[in-house]
Amino acid sequence: MPDVIVNAAAYTNVEKAELEQDLAFAVNSHALVNICEEIDNFNREYSRDLPLIHFSTDYVFNGDGNEPNRPLDKINPINIYGRSKAEGEKIILSSDVSYLILRTSWVVSRYGNNFVKTILKKIETNSEISVVNDQYGAPTSAEFIADFLCELLQLESIESKKGLYHICAEGETTWYELADFILKTFIKIRGVPEKALLPINPISASTFKTSAKRPRNSRLCCKSLKKTFPFKQTHWKTQIAEIIKFLLE
Ligand SMILES: NC(=O)c1ccc[n+]([C@@H]2O[C@H](COP(=O)([O-])OP(=O)(O)OC[C@H]3O[C@@H](n4cnc5c(N)ncnc54)[C@H](OP(=O)(O)O)[C@@H]3O)[C@@H](O)[C@H]2O)c1
Repeated sequence: MPDVIVNAAAYTNVEKAELEQDLAFAVNSHALVNICEEIDNFNREYSRDLPLIHFSTDYVFNGDGNEPNRPLDKINPINIYGRSKAEGEKIILSSDVSYLILRTSWVVSRYGNNFVKTILKKIETNSEISVVNDQYGAPTSAEFIADFLCELLQLESIESKKGLYHICAEGETTWYELADFILKTFIKIRGVPEKALLPINPISASTFKTSAKRPRNSRLCCKSLKKTFPFKQTHWKTQIAEIIKFLLE
């Protein structure tokens, strides 16, 4: 008998979503109709109030402004992935399910393919690296989110804390500054002379030709999460340094 349903499944290829709109909407929004229906049926049959923890994204916002997006700020996605995730949120919000929607951003990890691993590989081969320096957010480790989720699952009656929350690391940066931090950490751990490696080039997002528009401001405000749950936010540098150390040592 389940105590909680966690939905981390999603269609996450932002570029491909522009071409595979039906699939993106099927996975990121229509699936939520089925999930909410199943939870409703379960609740009726067993007189329960099964909570749904659902992961969403800063891509539901349009990325304007310079302040961290708050959970109840107006959403206005600028690409198909964002629109499909926003639609999924709306389905949950209009259901009878006790939901916790956790929006996050810029997730990286010691596992799978992600920005940290890509940059490390390029540094190791001393390739030329150009990275966007005009999009802002907080790189957040999947382990940090998983640890929070574990703590959340230990709590009594999370269904009473129903709501929309943001979860990300403390601080903010750009993709370029993150890449530069990865380079500096690599140099420190490996003891390589700085001059032996090519520096990273900062570039503007406008020089990149992509099918999907990307939000410029991915900052997320985590105040309501901190107020509601025992949540210790750590800085993005701490989280990223841990991943790099794990991968290099
Ligand atoms: N990564 C980020 O930077 C980021 C940022 C903000 C929010 N998020 C949100 O965080 C959540 C997890 O993202 P992630 O980065 O872990 O994505 P991911 O690595 O692409 O993982 C998505 C998972 O969903 C599964 N999946 C896809 N379609 C499915 C389907 N039709 N039925 C069942 N499972 C399906 C995939 O399974 P297979 O491996 O078998 O295909 C995969 O395990 C998503 O809700 C995403 O929107 C991620």
